[in-house]
Amino acid sequence: MNLKNRRILLIVSGGIAAIKIPELIRLMKKSGAHVRCILTQGGAQFVTPLSLAALSENNVYTDLWSLKDETEMGHIRLSREADLILIAPATAHIMAKMAHGLADDLASTTLLASDKPVMIVPAMNHKMWEHPATQQNLETLRARGAFILEPTMGDMACGEVGVGRMMEPVEIFASLENFFSASKPLHGKKALVTAGPTREPIDAVRYISNESSGRQGYAIAQALRDAGADVTLITGPVDLPAPSHMNILRVTTAREMYEATLNCLPVDLAVCTAAVADWAVAHPSSSKMKKRDNGSSPNLTLTENPDILKTLGERENRPSLVIGFAAETEKLAENALEKLKNKKCDWIVANQVGDKENPIFGAEQNQVMLITRTHSEEWPRISKLAVATRLVQKITDHFTKDK
Ligand code: C5P
Repeated sequence: MNLKNRRILLIVSGGIAAIKIPELIRLMKKSGAHVRCILTQGGAQFVTPLSLAALSENNVYTDLWSLKDETEMGHIRLSREADLILIAPATAHIMAKMAHGLADDLASTTLLASDKPVMIVPAMNHKMWEHPATQQNLETLRARGAFILEPTMGDMACGEVGVGRMMEPVEIFASLENFFSASKPLHGKKALVTAGPTREPIDAVRYISNESSGRQGYAIAQALRDAGADVTLITGPVDLPAPSHMNILRVTTAREMYEATLNCLPVDLAVCTAAVADWAVAHPSSSKMKKRDNGSSPNLTLTENPDILKTLGERENRPSLVIGFAAETEKLAENALEKLKNKKCDWIVANQVGDKENPIFGAEQNQVMLITRTHSEEWPRISKLAVATRLVQKITDHFTKDK
């Protein structure tokens, strides 16, 4: 694969890793790409416009307010005349600006004016990388469809050691090749993902719910989207940014989730990650229940909610692949296999519910087993994002190789 005639707009922001960018431009040019560079003020502290211009054989744009740059090539045109915008190195600052829609220089204004795919190659001190603000911004950008080339572990220019080193130019180049050659293996497939908790009202202000954050389901929906599937995400109330380029249906109760799911059929595959409440309150009060003077407490009568996964598994025109999740506290594989048979689904992704030290609900990481009717495999403790990527790879294999 080469990058012949691919138009790449390269934004170089201000990190020491910018000194590696001439090598990246050389690789892209050798492969036939058209490269145009925007250099931020910070970036220009580490690499000169002249070196980028010489290597890219193109003008280098630096200033939003430069009459010369704007008449030659306005920021709107810069963003439109690209197949991909690559930000390398990407500082914590430029990612924060993107996440919040700030536009105070040429790079950020061009990014805000663009609807092109964006690939972000972060590089920063490990504390900056790990900071909740940076991680939250990343989550927002990922949800919007940005491709993140994660930094690696190693010595840093500041003398510390940790995760934050920019990926090497050859690896960035390989990711570019991948991006442009990536087929969309699930193109034409309709996928349904349920995610998050449900809430079952007790009265006007109280409800029964659980700790599910929705992270795993959202990550799976995004990975399916990136593989080309037409995704509907049916989500309970969660505190996560809405992923782009998919159909999102927001529900509150299990009954609403059930009905939304049935309305989406037929689909080719369904992944039920939602932590659906097993019971609803039979007669929720429409006003706030009052404390009683005599100290007695109300008796809540519960009724069983419909099982969405089981309904999907048992349907005559069921999705050809139905995947459930199982959080277990004991006998993980055994109970999960039992669940698979009982709910007539094809695969179960099983995880041990963590303890106080190692929680799974709400955490970034997950440790799971994939259980099918014929085999089971144990995956290492990896991020929920990595679980999603791996699961979608398995789904792709199912729809391509196994047929
Ligand atoms: O039976 P249990 O709740 O452990 O099963 C978990 C699996 O079943 C998950 O995939 C969950 O999304 C699904 N489920 C469902 N509807 C319910 C209860 C669970 O789809 N009412």
